[in-house]
Amino acid sequence: MGREVTMGRAVPIATIICLLFASCTNDSESDLVEIEPDKSKTISYEADIRQIIGNNCLDCHKSPPVNGAPFSLDTYDRVKDKVENGNLITAINRQSGEPAAMPPTGRLPKATIDLIEQWADEGFLEQ
Ligand code: HEC
Repeated sequence: MGREVTMGRAVPIATIICLLFASCTNDSESDLVEIEPDKSKTISYEADIRQIIGNNCLDCHKSPPVNGAPFSLDTYDRVKDKVENGNLITAINRQSGEPAAMPPTGRLPKATIDLIEQWADEGFLEQ
């Protein structure tokens, strides 16, 4: 009894492989379009706040404090503490010339005050 041997399968298999490869190049456009996250900047002590305090507050609120300033604002922990448990945000929002307006030399620009408030709202990032 002879068994029929089917030859010539190589060609159909090669064709299938070609089709598989072809389908791999069929990226749909939707894979390439990313939804942009909100890129608005996150505020951190090291990147933003340290410099603002350094430029505007440390003349007096250094360690140890001078010029009658009651405490120092020379570290992350001290600044954060005065926002949370002191009234730093209130003090920087007082009008120039009001008692205990900070800094006493004149109110910070609104954008700078906003940065400090945003830093607090975002949870006091350090880095
Ligand atoms: C020229 C010196 C000087 C500078 C600069 C200065 N302070 Fe003061 N700060 C003081 C003095 C003096 C007091 C306490 C006396 C008073 O109430 O005015 C004070 C008090 C404070 C208080 C307590 C306010 C209150 O209502 O009791 C805070 C908060 C404060 N400063 C934050 C800051 C911050 C933040 C900056 C920078 C943006 C700053 N200070 C810049 C001298 C300064």
